[in-house]
Amino acid sequence: MENNENNKKIRVLTGDRPTGKLHLGHFVGSIQNRLKLQDTAEKAFYMVADVQALTDNAENPEKVRNNVLEVALDNLACGVDPSKTTFFIQSQIPEIAELTIFFLNLVTLARLKRNPTVKSEMQQKGFGEDVPAGFLIYPVSQAADILFAKANLIPVGEDQKPMIEQTNEIVDSFNRIYGETFSHVSHLVGEIPRLVGTDGNAKMSKSLNNCINLSDSDEMINKKVMDMYTDPNHIHVEDPGKVEGNVVFTYLDIFDSNKEEVADLKKQYEKGGLGDVVIKKRLAKILCDFISPIREKREQLAKDPQAVMKILEEGTQKARIEAQKTISEVRKAMKIDFFD
Ligand code: TRP
Repeated sequence: MENNENNKKIRVLTGDRPTGKLHLGHFVGSIQNRLKLQDTAEKAFYMVADVQALTDNAENPEKVRNNVLEVALDNLACGVDPSKTTFFIQSQIPEIAELTIFFLNLVTLARLKRNPTVKSEMQQKGFGEDVPAGFLIYPVSQAADILFAKANLIPVGEDQKPMIEQTNEIVDSFNRIYGETFSHVSHLVGEIPRLVGTDGNAKMSKSLNNCINLSDSDEMINKKVMDMYTDPNHIHVEDPGKVEGNVVFTYLDIFDSNKEEVADLKKQYEKGGLGDVVIKKRLAKILCDFISPIREKREQLAKDPQAVMKILEEGTQKARIEAQKTISEVRKAMKIDFFD
């Protein structure tokens, strides 16, 4: 990765579903890598995945539309730079839909049902057999998101690994049948591939309501940290407490740069005599310091939503050129290049 020669050939693509504001889990799982890679990659793309968001929000087009701006703002506020990264909106690249249709012939229903991320999302949403077909196939559409741009490095959270695996299976089938067209894709998970939620749940997630958003006010951050899951048996200050599984310590390990002090606090906590409020106050301050510059930049950018839409529009035009190149190659390979 450090080798510049290699980095020249790296094409990065990643995206977010516009269904709500982005949170700390997105930051450590993926955004941090977006920032690093945009300086070194040959090309970098950032997609607002509105079509994917609609797969389980078909009846909420307003929500999806409004959040397009929100996720773009979150990324810009974190430092994803439109002069280095091509921002675009998925729905405005019709070639992605076309590729999805072709790729669907290469994937079985049984395989779709086995995708572990889709499986757990289906459970969470209680879909059962009544799952919208578009939702079940979104990994195929995600393969099209990646392959239209010939991207080969995908900075994503750990939960997205199954999508990358499925993309590579599609690459193999496509190349075998129609000739060498696409290359394998690698995922790059962040230093913290999966951030626990404030409630101790394994994953920070909007739908679980256990998030600290990148746009939260200091007041909200303080409240969320004060409500954080610690050790339910640590009732009195003098009681010995558990560090493992204690969300406050998990976050201190990630966000507190003073590792020695954290190690001392852990010892004290385990021995007894250290109250939750002390460690929570420390964490709240660290998170406020971390988030406030992002929030302030975001507020600044939000004053001119048209400028943000312009970034998306210009990026979409650039992305579309890549898409058209790929689709004519694909049509040729598939022998459906009739009037080209
Ligand atoms: N599925 C991703 C998420 O929920 C969003 C996404 C859509 C994506 N298309 C992508 C991520 C392509 C990486 C590459 O976060």
